Amino acid sequence: MKKLHWKEEFETHIDVIDDQHRKIVGLLNKIITSHESDSRHTLESEAIIEEFIEYITFHFNMEEYYASKYHFPGYNNLVEEHNIIRNMFNSLKYYYSKYTRPEHYSSTTVKYIDIVIVELFQAHFFGIDREFANFIKEQHVDII
Ligand SMILES: [Fe+2]
Repeated sequence: MKKLHWKEEFETHIDVIDDQHRKIVGLLNKIITSHESDSRHTLESEAIIEEFIEYITFHFNMEEYYASKYHFPGYNNLVEEHNIIRNMFNSLKYYYSKYTRPEHYSSTTVKYIDIVIVELFQAHFFGIDREFANFIKEQHVDII
């Protein structure tokens, strides 16, 4: 899978969200790199997945906090979307953990990992998250 590059179309123009999304793209690139190389079989790749899940949890919590505070009408959808994405990445731990990772990755497994990464983008960056960012801008409130 090709590395991801930050694009204008990813911008929500809310600094705190865009900064965190940039960091997410950076962490995804670390996953993509480890996933394409033999480092997939090392403890390092397990740590990369852990770091990623920790960061998206922090990011999702921030979004949920402000969505709740300002009564975003799509709050339930946002939380559900976040839970689905977090679960998808949690399931990736199975493929990276030293206890459960397969000796060789089948093409189906590799495809699954790619889908999880692409799904995050489509659902999170361009779906409900975009709606949330537009809502925040309409409210003329600051999130930090
Ligand atoms: Fe987000």
